[in-house]
Amino acid sequence: MRVGAPDTMENTRIISAAVLLSGTGSTLQNLIGWIAAGKLPAKIAVVLSSKPDAYGVTRAKDAGIPVVIVNRKGFKNHTKFAQEVNDRLAKFDLDLIVLAGYSHLLLLDKLRNIPAINIHPALIPSFCGKGFYGDKVHKAVLEQGIKVTGVTVHFVDEEYDHGPIVLQEAVRVRRDDTIASLRSRVQRIEHRLYPEAIKLFAEGRLRVEGRKVIILPLSKSRK
Ligand code: GAR
Repeated sequence: MRVGAPDTMENTRIISAAVLLSGTGSTLQNLIGWIAAGKLPAKIAVVLSSKPDAYGVTRAKDAGIPVVIVNRKGFKNHTKFAQEVNDRLAKFDLDLIVLAGYSHLLLLDKLRNIPAINIHPALIPSFCGKGFYGDKVHKAVLEQGIKVTGVTVHFVDEEYDHGPIVLQEAVRVRRDDTIASLRSRVQRIEHRLYPEAIKLFAEGRLRVEGRKVIILPLSKSRK
């Protein structure tokens, strides 16, 4: 399966993305910056938050992006919540769903084949899965005493932090690291790797073969 193929040889397509979040939204802010700088051929059609008071909501509004709130606390179970998320996203014409610190699974089979992508602040398959998000990941990394952590961008499947891996990059853990210092170095990588992966998608250069993602050269993707 090749995903995100551009329309023509001459023009890289500008993809329409939904950004889903539950937290502070630094990932969203970074993507807004890349798009504004003309470095990422994408438009954020909507930001969806599972928490009404997430700071990411303020960032989206400040950038003039339409915001949808689907409050997880307002739903009895995950399926009903995830169905509402799908229904609200269905109102937008989307090429890609971008998870940006969104802490819930998607009902992918009901998402009309729109691919979804996620970023995780560790080297999957380590320090990932249910309950591993944000600072909890960095805390576990420090407690375990590992020497190398990193960043993973992957396509989303039905499990937490599990689908085919698009890009990964390592970050060395320092002896005197705190959660804050490690988060800061990991985020510096996140803020480059995520836009790079989304750009590859927009250029139609990602081919998924089973669990593997093949990155096509620019010229081949345009044939
Ligand atoms: C990011 O570090 C992202 O990698 C992580 O949540 C943070 C969101 O920060 N995602 C996960 O842990 C996914 N399992 P933000 O709210 O400031 O964008």
